[in-house]
Amino acid sequence: MSISRCCLRTIELAAKRVLMQTWYNEKNARTYSDRDFLHLMKAVIETTHLLLRPWQEEDLDQLVRLLARPEVARYIRLDGQTFTREESAEVHARVLRSWNEQRLGPWAVIDKTTGSWIGKLGLMYQEDWPGPDKFEVDYELDPAFWGRGLATEGTQAALRYGFVNRSLPRIIGATVPENVASRRVMEKCGLTYQGELRFRNARIVWYALDASTWWTLAHEQR
Ligand SMILES: CC(C)(COP(=O)(O)OP(=O)(O)OC[C@H]1O[C@@H](n2cnc3c(N)ncnc32)[C@H](O)[C@@H]1OP(=O)(O)O)[C@@H](O)C(=O)NCCC(=O)NCCS
Repeated sequence: MSISRCCLRTIELAAKRVLMQTWYNEKNARTYSDRDFLHLMKAVIETTHLLLRPWQEEDLDQLVRLLARPEVARYIRLDGQTFTREESAEVHARVLRSWNEQRLGPWAVIDKTTGSWIGKLGLMYQEDWPGPDKFEVDYELDPAFWGRGLATEGTQAALRYGFVNRSLPRIIGATVPENVASRRVMEKCGLTYQGELRFRNARIVWYALDASTWWTLAHEQR
């Protein structure tokens, strides 16, 4: 095994160990059934540069740091403020609920080269979305890692997981019109513009990708 493959394997095992520890620590409370735990283990995804692992309790502090950065919060909070610890804890709780109830949600993003935690990315269940397809692409990365194609790489893997492993019929994306980077990531991942609407008191643009289109694109790219 080469050194880089060996490092990679170590990081992957470390990520899986975090999942393991959480499970063992909470075993008495039985937060996860054995079946759910196996499902989470199977949901660890490796891409060229990233390791995506299902969101865990341990991710709260990193999320608090991420959402306290003005450039990250800029288009998420419409009042231009950064997130307080309590507000980030609410986001964190919603992400955990998405995994617990839907068995799918945003992953914690790990940079494979350094093993660093660099953000949150995946498919978030938006129960109040005004349409039948409620899984939305979702991403916030550490600005030090922007502009390298990582959100696109991770989102492509998340879409694949949603269509192949979960047979979702359609995945949506939404953002405020000014969030050019987010819109560009959606477009690069094959989501197409659907229009504007008001959602949670904000004017947003929304995008969507159907499973059939995704399968066609995936077939063509082989
Ligand atoms: C959105 C976000 C995850 C993108 O991450 P990223 O890893 O930099 O994304 P990628 O590198 O895969 O792609 C970004 C694309 O947007 C483009 N882009 C970024 N800023 C841009 C700008 N101001 N104007 C035009 N294009 C821009 C990049 O050039 C790139 O497109 P290209 O590959 O065609 O050149 C990151 O900017 C982020 O975390 N933003 C803060 C949180 C956020 O707004 N999340 C979305 C909520 S809906």
